[in-house]
Amino acid sequence: MTEHLEINKGGKTDKYATLLPQIRSVVAGEPDLIARMANVCAMLHETFSWWWTGFYRVADDNELVLGPFQGPLACTRIRRGRGVCGTAWQSERTLVVPDVDRFPGHIACSAASRSEIVVPVRDASGRIIAVLDIDSTQPATFDDADREWLEKIVALLQ
Ligand code: SME
Repeated sequence: MTEHLEINKGGKTDKYATLLPQIRSVVAGEPDLIARMANVCAMLHETFSWWWTGFYRVADDNELVLGPFQGPLACTRIRRGRGVCGTAWQSERTLVVPDVDRFPGHIACSAASRSEIVVPVRDASGRIIAVLDIDSTQPATFDDADREWLEKIVALLQ
């Protein structure tokens, strides 16, 4: 147990554990989804200093459209089933991609991106309304722990 705590000291588990209640209280006071998404990606991006952190919202049955984000310019529209975002939406599950060059059809909004995670965002009825897309300039940045924490965080948007 002590060893476990030592390993995580100052690590991402501590950061997520601190962030989760902060995000919960920030979104609790605001009913507007765009405003909630804007603060969620700002808080995540500030805490972890990733390359790009943001949301793509479901525009219609076939397309995602860029939502609130932090980081450099990004593509505005992604077709269902295209890239990591469109595939996570279609398959209705979180995708952890350790090396974007090995993901067929990856959409390179930025050549600097090396790894990414995409987490579907659901409404209270379970329908996917958006995806959270996070990109890193380092390979293999994200793992199962990120998936678990980020799934808990996007559940707060319901
Ligand atoms: N990497 C994404 C595209 C969006 S940008 O990286 C911000 C994808 O392949 O779905």
